[in-house]
Amino acid sequence: MMGISHFLAIPYPILGHMNPLLQFSQVLAKYGCKITLLSSDENYEKLKSASGGGNDKVIMDSHIKLVSLPDGVDPEDDRKDQAKVISTTINTMRAKLPKLIEDVNDAEDSDNKISCIIVTKNMGWALEVGHQLGIKGALFWPASATSLASFNSIQRLIDEGAIDSKNGLPTRKQEIQLSSNLPMMEAAAMPWYCLDNAFFFLHMKQEMQNLNLAERWLCNTTFDLEAGAFSTSQKLLPIGPLMANEHNIISILQEDRTCLEWLDQQPPQSVIYASFGSMVSTKPNQFNELALGLDLLKRPFLWVVREDNGYNIAYPDEFRGRQGKIVGWAPQKKILEHPAIACFISHCGWNSTIEGLYNGVPFLCWPFCSDQLMNKIYICDVWKVGLEFHRDENGIILREEIKKKVEQLLGDEEIKGRASKLMEKVIKNKAQGDQNLIKFINWAKE
Ligand code: UDX
Repeated sequence: MMGISHFLAIPYPILGHMNPLLQFSQVLAKYGCKITLLSSDENYEKLKSASGGGNDKVIMDSHIKLVSLPDGVDPEDDRKDQAKVISTTINTMRAKLPKLIEDVNDAEDSDNKISCIIVTKNMGWALEVGHQLGIKGALFWPASATSLASFNSIQRLIDEGAIDSKNGLPTRKQEIQLSSNLPMMEAAAMPWYCLDNAFFFLHMKQEMQNLNLAERWLCNTTFDLEAGAFSTSQKLLPIGPLMANEHNIISILQEDRTCLEWLDQQPPQSVIYASFGSMVSTKPNQFNELALGLDLLKRPFLWVVREDNGYNIAYPDEFRGRQGKIVGWAPQKKILEHPAIACFISHCGWNSTIEGLYNGVPFLCWPFCSDQLMNKIYICDVWKVGLEFHRDENGIILREEIKKKVEQLLGDEEIKGRASKLMEKVIKNKAQGDQNLIKFINWAKE
């Protein structure tokens, strides 16, 4: 008799990777799979309390078990130094992973041993370990298929002389087309440029070799949304829209649910929702402009201001915020499906993008870095379901620009109509994503 699919899920230890993989684990659990989720010791408590406490080495539900290993980062080391965290994590966890796999498997019946390792970006080394032990591998990419295609094209772009092999910068002013049916993009939209750091570029160049050990590359997207990306690799599998409208999903950060009651009291399609995901930080002068721009609009707004914004932010003295509600972390998926929401001021992180599309919410794009510029191109130029804020000569989005663009978007019936149409398509695509997921689960246990 064939056993169940048992996945060892290994997220890179930052929120933007842990949360999506944790949520994906919950989806797999609903399909009857077993998941062993490996966290760093540092994040173990966060994950444990997200699951509502529980026993030691907690069973998050009957299908998800949490295990942890040290990541080797000293308490006095700066965890924001990603270059250091990446190399220390790789060295420390890699050495301990074979023994952990052995221990997990020893506790299982022969039918239920780990059948597949799933990693996020930066954890490709674990696929190599799995490869040596004869365990299948998959990549869960917490961003768009196009961004994965771009990283996978690094070597080709170097060979063609389009980018510098040492830092990934464009060798000449140009647009890049990753494949004949993908949109032309300015070179600066490639996700490694605004990292502004040769380390990350070189790391990703190397990382793609590890990630190529994965037999499947899973993306929370749909074929129709990014059809061109799927011609770049046969490994790419669209399994989305994945988390949208899942209601009992657990979150690592504490959600402030009072905003749902507040939303219930707002008129239909009246509220501007502003949120910038789990990682980006807003500098104080930009934060002020956003606050005052929201005031200028004289409309209800719901604004997520994370406590770990990274800068000591204070609301400007003139800020009134009378018609607004500000929360530290919101139940975003429920917010985006709420009838009171009119538009989404977003940093264009991929998960926010998919969640907005799934609910037909038009976007005001405020990309910061990484894949967000690429996602903005899809939103504004390919799907045409949003507008972009423009920065002034100092790189700031001014309050007047915020007011102008939000009003322009809210008065644009064509954009809103396209957002509704695209929503219908994405909802239809879900059936295909679910089928792909089932195929993947069956492949893992073959
Ligand atoms: C990171 C990168 O920054 C992004 O560029 C990349 O596409 C994915 O990885 P993050 O910045 O966290 O992600 O943004 P995003 O992908 O949009 O994910 C944010 C997630 O947090 C979404 O699922 C959203 O629903 C959730 N969220 C956000 C909340 O649940 N509550 C909030 O208040 C804000």
